[in-house]
Amino acid sequence: MAKIIGAVTTSHVPAIGRAIARNLQNDPYWKPFFDGFPPVQRWLQEQQPDIAVVFYNDHGLNFFLDKLPTFAIGTAPSYVNADEGWGIPQVPTFTGAEDLQWHLVNSLVAEEFDLTTCQEMNVDHAFTLPMALCWPDQKWPVKVVPICINTVQFPLPSAARCYKLGEAVGRAIASWKSDAKVVVLGTGGLSHQLDGERAGFINRDFDLQFMESLIHDPKWATQFNSTQLVEKAGTQGVELLMWLASRAALGANVKLTHQNYHIPISNTAAGLMVMEPA
Ligand code: DHB
Ligand code: FE
Repeated sequence: MAKIIGAVTTSHVPAIGRAIARNLQNDPYWKPFFDGFPPVQRWLQEQQPDIAVVFYNDHGLNFFLDKLPTFAIGTAPSYVNADEGWGIPQVPTFTGAEDLQWHLVNSLVAEEFDLTTCQEMNVDHAFTLPMALCWPDQKWPVKVVPICINTVQFPLPSAARCYKLGEAVGRAIASWKSDAKVVVLGTGGLSHQLDGERAGFINRDFDLQFMESLIHDPKWATQFNSTQLVEKAGTQGVELLMWLASRAALGANVKLTHQNYHIPISNTAAGLMVMEPA
C-alpha cells in the first residue's frame, strides 16, 4: 500500500516568484523567509517521495467566478503553469500521477465527496511556488495530484468539511495498492487580507495558535465558521483550509519536524511546517 511520509504546509505569495527569479534569497527582506526552506529540502531529499498531493486554491487562472467548484481534483497527464498577470516567470510543466489521481476520484466519490474532476487544468502560483520552494532546481522529482479548495468566492466549504476531505484523502492514499511514497503539500495562508478596510491585516497570535493546534489539537480550527475565520485570519487568510486538509490526511497523531513563521512577506504572514505521521 502507498505510504504518506508527511506534509509540508506553506504560504504562497506571487512575490516569492520574483524573488526566486532575481536570486534575492539572501536579501535582508527575504532571508528570514527563504531560510525556512533548506531543512524542508533536506527532509524531502532524505524521504524521496514519488508523488506530491497538493491542496491549494486557484486564484482565477483555472477557475473563474462564473464556474467555481468547491472541491476539484486534477486527472490530467500534465499541468502547465500559465501567466496570471503577476509578471513572474513560469515554471516547468508538472507530470500528473494518473493512477493515484483516478484512485482518489473513485475513493472520494465513494465516500460522498463529489469533487469536480478536471482532465485539463492550469496551475497558478499557489501550486507552482511551493513546489519551487521544495525543489529549487525545478526538476520536479515527483509526480503530482492537484486538489483545489475554493477560498475565493463565498460560500466557502467549512473548516470541518475540509478536515473531513483531508481525512478521506489520507484513507484513499493508504488504500492505494502501490509502494509509492506520497508527500502532501498544503499551500495558502496564514493570516492576510489583500483588500477592503482591513487590507494588510495580520494576526500573529491566531497564526501561532493555529500552527500549534495542528500538532496537539488538530480539529481546533474546525470550531470556527467561515465568517469567524475571516475575522481571525483575514479574507485571504481562509487559505489555511489547505493546511487543515493536509494535516487531516496524516491521521490522528503527528510529530512536528520543522517550522518557520515570518511577518510579512508582501501582505502575508508566511508560515511553514513539516509534519510527519507519529
Ligand atoms: C498575496 C498573497 C496571496 O495568498 C496571494 O494569493 C496573492 C498575493 C500577497 O500577500 O501579496
Ligand atoms: Fe493566495
